[in-house]
Amino acid sequence: MLIRFERKTDLEAWRRELSPDLRLGFVPTMGALHRGHLALIERALEECDRVVCSIFVNPTQFNQAQDLQHYPRTEEKDLQLLLEVGCHVLFLPTIEEIYPEGPENAPNPFVFGELEKVMEGAHRPGHFRGVAQVVSRLLEIVRPQALYMGQKDYQQTLIVRSMLEQMNSAVQLVVCPTVREEDGLAMSSRNLRLSAEQRALAPEIYRAMRAAATAFALRKEAGLPAPVGQIEDRYLQELAALPGFRPEYFCFARAADLKPLRDLPPEELPPPEEVVLCTAVWVGDVRLIDNLIVS
Ligand code: PAF
Repeated sequence: MLIRFERKTDLEAWRRELSPDLRLGFVPTMGALHRGHLALIERALEECDRVVCSIFVNPTQFNQAQDLQHYPRTEEKDLQLLLEVGCHVLFLPTIEEIYPEGPENAPNPFVFGELEKVMEGAHRPGHFRGVAQVVSRLLEIVRPQALYMGQKDYQQTLIVRSMLEQMNSAVQLVVCPTVREEDGLAMSSRNLRLSAEQRALAPEIYRAMRAAATAFALRKEAGLPAPVGQIEDRYLQELAALPGFRPEYFCFARAADLKPLRDLPPEELPPPEEVVLCTAVWVGDVRLIDNLIVS
């Protein structure tokens, strides 16, 4: 059975009734659920006694009104999938429930420094402030022991980890591997907006990332510093040459803090397992992101 709450007071009342011995897992989403989300819920179900999933399309993390407007909403299908997977609770709040004072007046005390200025932060100003705002608010309401998020949004997981530290929170962040389509395309709600032609070409993003990661790892294996900038430029150009593709960045970075490797002297390049390759590519008017730990 799936219990559905729209009001935060109802969810909070349910939460108060839950025995403190039970472990509560939480999977925040913006809906349009796919196998990537379901993998998070399945992992939470394996590791927790109860699992709450939220669906809330958070206005404060969209820096383009168009993106918010076009964000896919598939509520009936989402409900069906949550029932099938065996999720216990769905929290489906309104904007007023989450931001009683209005989204623009919601508290946002976090500071992320360089981490919110690179990659997604550089191309989507304010995005991570919005993510931290909503995740902290949801955690306050749900009060889980464990929070499940996907590696697909790698930078987001680092932001949330830093946010939990800043909150002095005991919540355990569990980052789960990216789920891919058979042809390698990372699962994303935005994939629904690709045309058949764009969908057929979209796996080129993963192919380019794998090729670039191999080029990096091979140089390191041979004991040579990887020519980071050259590798990035080569695959950025390859992606840019595909019809309708407009890559924003294709960047090797330190996995721990996303410091771009381009800025490091060759002798300070970390080993491949401590390097993440991140990319964002517009395919037509759909913006796709992906990443890969290089090893
Ligand atoms: O990854 C997402 O879907 C969103 O950024 C999240 C974590 C649900 C916050 O709105």
